[in-house]
Amino acid sequence: MISRPRRLRANEHIRSLARETVIAKDSVILPIFLKDGMQLKHPLSALDGHYQYSVDTVCQDIEGFLNAGVKKFILFGIPEKKDSFGSQAYAEEGIVNRGIREIKKQFGNDIYLISDVCMCEYTSHGHCGILEGEMVDNDKTLNYLQKIALSNVEAGIDMVAPSDMMDGRVSAIRSTLEENGYCHTPIMSYSAKYASGFYNPFREAAESAPSFGDRKTYQMDYHNTKEAIKELIQDEREGADILMVKPALSYLDIIAKARENSHLPIAAYSVSGEYAMIKAAARMGYVDEYKMMCETTTSIYRAGASILISYYATDIVKAIEKGDI
Ligand code: PBG
Repeated sequence: MISRPRRLRANEHIRSLARETVIAKDSVILPIFLKDGMQLKHPLSALDGHYQYSVDTVCQDIEGFLNAGVKKFILFGIPEKKDSFGSQAYAEEGIVNRGIREIKKQFGNDIYLISDVCMCEYTSHGHCGILEGEMVDNDKTLNYLQKIALSNVEAGIDMVAPSDMMDGRVSAIRSTLEENGYCHTPIMSYSAKYASGFYNPFREAAESAPSFGDRKTYQMDYHNTKEAIKELIQDEREGADILMVKPALSYLDIIAKARENSHLPIAAYSVSGEYAMIKAAARMGYVDEYKMMCETTTSIYRAGASILISYYATDIVKAIEKGDI
């Protein structure tokens, strides 16, 4: 036989030479939940190993994450007071803005901070924008997203990541940042974000479940592919620097299409439900958690992502260092 594919599988040396997907440990981002209050480190039952931190406790664990080799973080905030305009999202003393200042004060440029720009954690009704009756008003919401992004940048954020799925938000945020002299702050847009059942554990962590209805009038319908490409291209035209697909595992086809249709870096968010599923199955003894983490993580990069947001970020970096991913 002339062609024997098994020749390239004979041992770990040759397998690693023939490997197509090589993952950079600098490409992973860890989500962090910040909550108003003092001395908090509240464990999240649905996101085993993750916590809600107050600003005074978070830096201790960030030190540990940095030592583990993770340097990029996406911040989510849980305010004490919510209102219909989500005002704590852009208040100078709002939870995320205080967190950004404190973390940057301690770690400066050793750390790269991204803010999730959205309203659902801050609004009393839990929707991602300003309500008009029972509908989220797109254009009114844009003004608030601009305020949130600008306040985060003024507090010292390195990159903003709008996740609300309003139309036109990338250009709205881009123009506000340009006008205020922040032309170098990148936007990572949650471009193809689907209305997904995989977000449930996050909504417990971020206390952001909608009080009525669902997010289907703004997040995407998971039956659609072409619409995702439309969203991705539109965000690129509006000035996004990185495009994101979310969730990741049930959307590997969308990640592959995003890769084909854009020259921008493609990020994937392996969301809370993906993490919780592996954790739960492992706890039941049905799967080997480490193997599942390595395989699912690799699949997301193999599909075409070059950046990954994951609750496994520190374990992924360890697995890369060991040569298991
Ligand atoms: C905010 C936001 C959500 C997630 C990231 N940003 C929740 C949602 O859209 O309901 C989900 C992340 C996860 O499940 O890990 N809009």
